[in-house]
Amino acid sequence: MVNVMEKDILKVLVSEEELKERVRQLGEQINEKYRDKRPLFLGVLKGSFIFMADLVRASGLKADVEFIAVSSYHNGTRSSGVVQITHDLQQDITGRDIIVVEDILDSGNTLSFLVGYFKAKGAASVSIATLLDKPSRRTKPVTAEFVGFNVPDEFVVGYGLDYAQMYRNLPYIGVLKAEVYENALD
Ligand code: PRP
Repeated sequence: MVNVMEKDILKVLVSEEELKERVRQLGEQINEKYRDKRPLFLGVLKGSFIFMADLVRASGLKADVEFIAVSSYHNGTRSSGVVQITHDLQQDITGRDIIVVEDILDSGNTLSFLVGYFKAKGAASVSIATLLDKPSRRTKPVTAEFVGFNVPDEFVVGYGLDYAQMYRNLPYIGVLKAEVYENALD
């Protein structure tokens, strides 16, 4: 089969095998911390959907899942800082131990808003699991307890992460060729 996305990828940053092994390790860490609890895995749509599916299975816990969708009004590749909820929680999270699941922690705008929101809703605890972390871009003081990989400030796609809603279904994390997004701006 020809993967028609491959030609747009400059290089593989995290391979499929590396993702699998790291998610297994994160699942173990989460298992150790929450073994006696029933945490709520709370995925931030859309980017988290693949990581969420793999992480919740890797945890081996009696857990349940929930999703929230937000939009942060990006202009170009930068976030404006204004976070709006486009699909809200469908359950009461009072007293729950929340594991927020994200594909990437960048400026920290989204997670800084969401952690405050979940605490205001009465969560007993809120921790963050992010597959990728770009600490060099942080403008808000947000720290994730469970981090898959620190990545440089490059245009990464795959395993949930998109460019213009595409490439989320690449099985690895890749760096997009500049010509792909530069041509789109013409
Ligand atoms: C991405 C990512 C985080 C956010 C991180 O979402 O999934 O939610 O940006 O950036 P921040 O730390 O600067 O707030 P995006 O808006 O691209 O939407 P998506 O999840 O639907 O791809």
